[in-house]
Amino acid sequence: MIKKCLFPVAGYGTRFLPATKAMPKEILPILNKPLVQYGVEEAMQAGLTDIGFVTGRGKRAIEDHFDVSYELEHQIHGSGKEKLLTGIRELIESCRFSYTRQITMRGLGHAILSGRTLVGDEPFGVVLADDLCFGEDQGVLEQMVGVFKQFHCSIVAVQEVPMEETHRYGVIEGETLSDKLFRVTDMVEKPAQGCAPSNLAIIGRYILTPDIFDILEATEAGKDGEIQITDALLQQARDGSVIAYKFDGTRFDCGSVEGFVDATNYCYQNHYVPQG
Ligand code: UTP
Repeated sequence: MIKKCLFPVAGYGTRFLPATKAMPKEILPILNKPLVQYGVEEAMQAGLTDIGFVTGRGKRAIEDHFDVSYELEHQIHGSGKEKLLTGIRELIESCRFSYTRQITMRGLGHAILSGRTLVGDEPFGVVLADDLCFGEDQGVLEQMVGVFKQFHCSIVAVQEVPMEETHRYGVIEGETLSDKLFRVTDMVEKPAQGCAPSNLAIIGRYILTPDIFDILEATEAGKDGEIQITDALLQQARDGSVIAYKFDGTRFDCGSVEGFVDATNYCYQNHYVPQG
């Protein structure tokens, strides 16, 4: 059983400046809900109720969001507005939240390594909240838990992207096991134009086995001078221990303004319930 899910949220969110100067990117709302809440809901639906945040300076609003707000709740108690807090209350009651800090922003691999203290020695999920995913029958993380139960190794979610966009992602090469499953044989972080081994791009959902931490300890800075999770995963892939899963559903790159706007429009059309 996987119970833990790590949310690396320490990044600066520079693509959203000035909005992210004093506010975490993960608190930016899609309609009336912060990005990070969508991610925690997805984790909870997958049964991952031990939520660990790897935060950094200026991210206090995330901790406050997953806590009670006595003054506000007292103020709206008994009014029609109380129901607006139902969803977040359910998360607070159903999940346990822990926090640790990444002191220097040395990349996603380093952020995950910083979360070791929250995870310990068991397999765990990783959600990058700025990738907003909507599954069809099941959420993306729940689908991946099903794949993990079959293979008992690290799982990465992948999506087919146009070849000319592969330079923005970690890209895998793999042996095809079925139309949705690949045993990863190689992976390249942000390949130069024309050098991608496929058009299967890794998105912000992972299930990792805990040996990844020792591998990350020994991983040198790679692309962009950052410790890359892709480089550590490649070590596991050399033993055949990484499966790529082409998920069912829709994903929006909310780390970019264009993706954020697309997600907002999609949610407005598909999920928005006007409030009384
Ligand atoms: P991104 O590179 O997409 O996020 O990292 P960013 O750095 O916040 O955004 P830009 O590029 O400056 O606009 C992917 C995820 O990894 C986390 C980020 O918070 C984001 O969720 N991350 C990245 C860390 O937690 N620590 C890091 O050192 C780097």
